[in-house]
Amino acid sequence: VSHHLTHSQTDPLLTFPSIDGVLLHVSKPIPGATETLRFLQEHNIPFILLTNGGGRHESERVADLSKKLNVPLTTSNFVQSHTPFQELVDELADKTILVTGANADKCRAIAQAYGFKNVVTPADIMAAEPRVWPFEPLMEEVYAGTTKPLPRPVYKGPNPVIDTKTLKGKEAPLKIDAMFVFNDPRDWALDIQIITDLLLSQQGYLGTYSPKNGDHSLPNCGWQGDGQPALYFSNADLYWSTGYHLPRFGQGAFQAAVAGVWRRVTDGHELHRRVFGKPSAETYAFAERVLQRHRHEILKELGGRHGPGRLERVYMVGDNPESDIAGANEYRSEVGTEWYSVLVKTGVWTPDRAGGEAVLKGRLKPTVVVEDVREGVRWALEREGWKASL
Ligand code: G3P
Ligand code: MG
Repeated sequence: VSHHLTHSQTDPLLTFPSIDGVLLHVSKPIPGATETLRFLQEHNIPFILLTNGGGRHESERVADLSKKLNVPLTTSNFVQSHTPFQELVDELADKTILVTGANADKCRAIAQAYGFKNVVTPADIMAAEPRVWPFEPLMEEVYAGTTKPLPRPVYKGPNPVIDTKTLKGKEAPLKIDAMFVFNDPRDWALDIQIITDLLLSQQGYLGTYSPKNGDHSLPNCGWQGDGQPALYFSNADLYWSTGYHLPRFGQGAFQAAVAGVWRRVTDGHELHRRVFGKPSAETYAFAERVLQRHRHEILKELGGRHGPGRLERVYMVGDNPESDIAGANEYRSEVGTEWYSVLVKTGVWTPDRAGGEAVLKGRLKPTVVVEDVREGVRWALEREGWKASL
């Protein structure tokens, strides 16, 4: 929950909550969450929801959240891990991208709704070329009915190196221009095989192997140096809070597996990738812009006595020191807004686990630690001199 407070108390308090571990444990509201969100609505305080979750289109996730929290929410103030991928559509709209996640076919539908035109999933590739990953038992039970024909046939070898200059038009084989992980994959084996194949390929032609790989005369020994597709992750969360008494692996664990295999394959080279989501500055800047827009809408509706004015202070309430607290502590606002971080005990971090209070130093040190989101909002309200009590 981040509170956007302005210099004049007549302006509404603006908030956006991390969802998992602050408002919900998977689908169960955390005590106080609904009352807190209701309070903000009754006081005409606009919401911005900012989450590292993903895997469903914003409209679908917001409708689901409204039901679970029993509070009406809208997409105009909802940012999830892959929402900022929309800013890459212009550059890639007519290219071919690979997407994956917990349900890659759903990720395809989201990517297409964002504006990407040619979207391929690992299962599409398996359906067209089963030799890519032998013994894929999931093709029948899990992937049946989710695959689409590929825009181009997969290169079937046998030479790993092709003369890409001769490729054009219809007979050109499948070329992937970018790869996106929308949320936490389930079939790590297939996804890591396909992602790594493409990172080793000539310019994204699946089934080829770049002759530059491992060439010590080249920068980075030639690895990822032959026009291979960029790899985008939508969040870096090693853990997330599900209501099980111990945190569960998130997309950051999958990313560590991809990077670990890459380190083995390249004899110690680091994987070059782009990571979105909290704590990345891109995501905080994107969310701040969404918040600014939403605040202006609300002020207009309220017939604001003051102009929109500048956001002065932000209170970021979250449950994960690595994403919510570090992100707020490190973000340097594009509009000079100050960010404060508030850590709740209902999520990934609790005082009696994983180092407890001792880990809360440096970039992970919150402005304050509170029991839950309700106390976090109370603390921000009091700090800003709000009279109404939650
Ligand atoms: O997969 C969701 C998880 O990584 C964290 O989500 O809402 O706590 O930022 P959230
Ligand atoms: Mg969280």
